[in-house]
Amino acid sequence: MNETHSDNHTDNHGATHTDNHGATHSSTRKESVTVLGLGRMGSALAGAFLDAGHPTTVFNRSPGKADPLVARGARRAATVAEAVAASGLVVVCVLDYDAVRGLLEPVAAELRGRTLVNLTSGSPEQARAEAEWAAGHGIGYLDGGIMTTPPGIGDSANMILYAGGPELQAAHRPALSALGDPVDLGPDAGLASLYDAGLLGLMWSVFGGWLHATALVGADGVPAKEFTAVSVRWLRTVSWFLTMYADQIDAGEYPGDDATIDIQVAGIGHLLHAGEERGIDGRLPRLHLELMKEAVAAGHGGDSYARIVEAFRGKRSA
Ligand SMILES: NC(=O)c1ccc[n+]([C@@H]2O[C@H](COP(=O)([O-])OP(=O)(O)OC[C@H]3O[C@@H](n4cnc5c(N)ncnc54)[C@H](OP(=O)(O)O)[C@@H]3O)[C@@H](O)[C@H]2O)c1
Repeated sequence: MNETHSDNHTDNHGATHTDNHGATHSSTRKESVTVLGLGRMGSALAGAFLDAGHPTTVFNRSPGKADPLVARGARRAATVAEAVAASGLVVVCVLDYDAVRGLLEPVAAELRGRTLVNLTSGSPEQARAEAEWAAGHGIGYLDGGIMTTPPGIGDSANMILYAGGPELQAAHRPALSALGDPVDLGPDAGLASLYDAGLLGLMWSVFGGWLHATALVGADGVPAKEFTAVSVRWLRTVSWFLTMYADQIDAGEYPGDDATIDIQVAGIGHLLHAGEERGIDGRLPRLHLELMKEAVAAGHGGDSYARIVEAFRGKRSA
């Protein structure tokens, strides 16, 4: 590595301070970072590093995309090798893992001893293979999952998931905090991609339920904005249900102390009826009803809704 890093501070807004003798105080010095890939997300990542005062080197296959970042103070690297050589922390965010390997394979030797943070989306299997490749070349490797869109980068309210190296995540935490709240998922490099896939599934399910309900109440003239204010409050209560049901799932027991599947079958009947009266597409609630009916048919109507996890596990509710 051709430079030292000061990772023992968490302030992302401080500036580098130089004393009267020209010495830089390491307690406030920002870690140098390199960002490879300057699409929508890579540009946002590099911009957040710049905003937080990190010396930032950038590279993109199509060089023009670096221009706005260079105008904000980034250093342009002409080649991937030059970009990698500039920093101990190298962040890559391109289309897919094939593009990552295409960029990095030729510079494996230059990456040795550095930390590579791969924020490109992919599968857990691809992430584990990339971690193995990195380990084989003496490269520190963190696989990440970005749980926001480019405008949300730099906001600590949003999570960036990291897997594959808790010690690397801790060492680079001050720099990584410039992008969002770093969440460490432990040493298995596949877990950031696995969480990411699951969390996107959760998002689509929530989107689906909210859009179906918005269409339903909209049929009676309720504006989406008005209904959404109530929906967001309801999601907080639903989050409380999830937390309670998670304990049941881990215990493998689903006591219907709060509400049973039987009572929810009745409830979803009201939703289906209201939808039919208004000409609303009922595919989504019918899927939920199908899962509930399977559990009831297997004798679990008195259990809590958390029992449905068994259907997703493929064991059926028998
Ligand atoms: N956008 C989001 O909201 C979001 C959220 C979470 C995660 N992500 C993930 O972030 C990654 C980038 O997404 P994005 O939105 O930034 O996409 P994008 O705007 O389409 O940018 C794609 C980037 O990949 C580069 N690229 C594509 N193929 C390449 C190759 N063969 N070799 C080298 N570079 C290549 C492009 O370079 P050129 O400019 O030269 O084409 C560009 O820098 C994806 O894995 C995506 O799933 C995105």
